[in-house]
Amino acid sequence: KQNILVIPSVLPADFSQLGNAVVELEKAGVDRIQWDVMDGVFVPNLTFGPDTIASARKVTTLGFEAHLMIVDPDQYIEKYVAAGCELLIIHAESTRHLHRTLGRVRQAGAKVGVALNPATPICAIENVVDLLDLILIMTVNPGFGGQAYISTMESKISSAYELANSFSHEIEIEVDGGISSSTVEGAVSAGARTLVAGSSLFKHPDGLEAAVTEIRNLAG
Ligand code: DX5
Repeated sequence: KQNILVIPSVLPADFSQLGNAVVELEKAGVDRIQWDVMDGVFVPNLTFGPDTIASARKVTTLGFEAHLMIVDPDQYIEKYVAAGCELLIIHAESTRHLHRTLGRVRQAGAKVGVALNPATPICAIENVVDLLDLILIMTVNPGFGGQAYISTMESKISSAYELANSFSHEIEIEVDGGISSSTVEGAVSAGARTLVAGSSLFKHPDGLEAAVTEIRNLAG
């Protein structure tokens, strides 16, 4: 099995203590940090912009990925790369010219992933897989943390796994939404190896480190 990556979404963090949360996550042994960027239009919630991410950049050496849940990703590509994101994840539903947008992210010097909302079929990306470093299968409808895992997405995770494996370059299969000790095994058995979790990490009774270890062991 490819190695499991545990990626916290900082959406559930106390935004008045964001820097400390990132430092605590690094201590807890996570592999990267995911910033859920929301514009209040693509999803019914509003979170952080490039300046917030740039302010957290200086407190950790962990990689940052920006999950762009925004209606006009093209206009922000350079800003999120400049803020310190090494990977930008573009929603297939958020741009009319997905192939061009993905190419622009690579030209800006970042790795690029594509995210699919629950209703969006895998075939939406089958013609751009050669450009991808990551495929994100949303297992909730984006916008909020703490929602229930949509288990019917597991067939789509498997399709993404097969599609990625038909290419010789490394493409991470990432899942995001409702990932916890009770859902991680289903997602991994379907083919996910990069696991995004928000509430299950931040709300774990034994703390972040125990939560990360638990997810890693169950996925192992
Ligand atoms: C939802 C975000 C997810 C969310 C995950 O739109 O993309 O990253 O924060 O939170 P949990 O793990 O609580 O479902």
